[in-house]
Amino acid sequence: VAGDEKELRAPICCILGHVDAGKTKLLDCIRGTNVQGREAGGITQQIGATYLPAENIRDRTSLKAETAIKVPGLLVIDTPGHESFSKMRSRGLSMCDIAVVVVDITKGLEKQTVESLHLLRCHNVSFIVALNKVDRLYGWKECTNAPIVEALKKQSDDVKSEYKWRLTKVVTEFKENGFNTAPYYENNKKKKVVNIVPTSAESGEGVPDLLLLLVRWLPDIITDKLAYDDTIECTVLEVNEHKDLGTTVDVVLINGVLRQGDQVIVCTKQGPVTTIIRDLLTPHPMKELKAKGAYKHHKEVRAAQGVKIVARVSFISIAVPYEHGIHCQTIHCLFVFLQGLQYAMAGTSLIVVKPGDDLRQAEAAAMQE
Ligand code: GTP
Ligand code: NA
Ligand code: MG
Repeated sequence: VAGDEKELRAPICCILGHVDAGKTKLLDCIRGTNVQGREAGGITQQIGATYLPAENIRDRTSLKAETAIKVPGLLVIDTPGHESFSKMRSRGLSMCDIAVVVVDITKGLEKQTVESLHLLRCHNVSFIVALNKVDRLYGWKECTNAPIVEALKKQSDDVKSEYKWRLTKVVTEFKENGFNTAPYYENNKKKKVVNIVPTSAESGEGVPDLLLLLVRWLPDIITDKLAYDDTIECTVLEVNEHKDLGTTVDVVLINGVLRQGDQVIVCTKQGPVTTIIRDLLTPHPMKELKAKGAYKHHKEVRAAQGVKIVARVSFISIAVPYEHGIHCQTIHCLFVFLQGLQYAMAGTSLIVVKPGDDLRQAEAAAMQE
């Protein structure tokens, strides 16, 4: 409810980790999608955004219907783990409230895991470790989507002992990097000791536990960050040319509300570009923003959400005034607008101009990286 002081927005959760640790696959397991299978070379090359409504999360956990979830949902940001995309990782992290660091249990901490830990410390962001690929332990007995403690009980002594020494090795490696960690089911100092959740993105063991920690425990420790407020905070992810929609700008709305008809400014290499929001699109819940698919249209969108913005200026709206004899120069200006938008720079802020705002000031704010 708007204006309610206790209203919390959806936390933004960034998924970080070394290449091929299973970040995208883990999200596919949660969403019931196959984004990873369609990536070129199985490598993520763009930041992704997926909204997970609280009710869908509840369905994947053992939470009873009467148990309240304090947040409306979770906006998950997938990042590339390949070493050449460090800029995207730090961009992803700069917009998030919490993070999940995915570690391959068969490999332990790797180069970009350590890089991620460094970023997390710099930004002072709380995180959970998903110790992924437990199904790769030799002789693992699959227990599809089971809570991890249940799944572990079903394993042979050999699997249990391999699990134990690999877990101990990972805990030691975290310690060497300055973090105290413990499996969450044995962790009674959750505020000081980082939780490890063993998972399999292949068969879903531990995924209910991970989701439960994200919606039940983390909002408590970051409540202040999640207080909803109207100040708009919005980061550009990428710009696309859509054959029907024209230039679209994918953004993560971190705080506030975007509305159709809002005048917005984006930062481009050529300077600030002003445009009007014609339409606001989101993928359906549990679907990836960057994956091509059906969109939902909205008059307004509340944070936190991944949004595809369609700008008002389009070839169609240019054709109409021309027939009414509009001056040639105006048309030229419209084309500059249209072209300018294509150069909106990833990682910069999208600024909304409110009535009475100083346009020059707003433009300057947009150009501040
Ligand atoms: P980048 O985005 O490129 O950094 O990789 P990623 O961390 O998103 O890993 P991705 O989801 O692409 O998974 C890498 C490979 O590991 C794929 O072949 C997945 O099928 C496989 N994989 C991921 N998670 C698991 C798991 O839990 N178990 C098994 N057996 N394979 C997994
Ligand atoms: Na990959
Ligand atoms: Mg990936």
